[in-house]
Amino acid sequence: MTRNIGILGAMAQEIDEVKALLTEKTIVKIANREFVVGKIGNVRCVVAFSKWGKVAATITATLLIQEFDVTDLIFIGTAGALADGLKVGDIVISKRLVQHDLDARPIISRFELPLLNRIYVDSDSDLTELAGKAVSNLLEKGVENMVGEEAVKEFNLSPKLYFGDIASGDQFINSIEKRDEILSLLPDVLCVEMEGAAVAQVCLEFNTPFTVIRTISDTADHNARVDFGKFIVEVANAYSRAIIGEIVRML
Ligand code: ADE
Repeated sequence: MTRNIGILGAMAQEIDEVKALLTEKTIVKIANREFVVGKIGNVRCVVAFSKWGKVAATITATLLIQEFDVTDLIFIGTAGALADGLKVGDIVISKRLVQHDLDARPIISRFELPLLNRIYVDSDSDLTELAGKAVSNLLEKGVENMVGEEAVKEFNLSPKLYFGDIASGDQFINSIEKRDEILSLLPDVLCVEMEGAAVAQVCLEFNTPFTVIRTISDTADHNARVDFGKFIVEVANAYSRAIIGEIVRML
């Protein structure tokens, strides 16, 4: 089967950078969303801004699968670090996704996905490995090639790549209390964001391989909001473009 890669991004500007990689573009609008269909190199791709939060991302992921027949789905965006040692600029690729705000107790256990009998959804191992190789290649060449020397200095970037659990919920986490609460209940989680686990649930139900790639933009504490906007413009956009470009090149 010819591959047709769905690429979702959590920030509009971030996904604009990825759209710029596409050739032979056609734009399709559905449900206040813009899907850009085209090719990166020789690979068919459909790129869209997921919009923020679990419901919005669920709608966009479902449309990508149902209307555009994507064979794989890659989600790219930023996240707040939960695990000790993670720094702004590091990259986390998902092993498993969990919804930290899902709680249907006492009917089922905390975090369990209703009627799916599980708490975690695994990302696709091949796609996750491929994304990991792509990021490693880029980091070996040097982060300055992705973002420029100035951003490296400004954000003190010396990025490392991690694989692990990612938690999603309909909240921007920016307090130590909330951060610690999530970590105490889900101690293996590396970072927190607002869409990945919803997209994972969609992909599980449709049997679509997926992976989630997140750049750490903040530490999900009281500094989170201040750092965020600047980081998106100066770092995350360039990371997304480079990472998606490299993944597709390796397909
Ligand atoms: N995305 C980036 N940083 C985040 C945070 N601190 N909480 C939720 N989503 C995020």
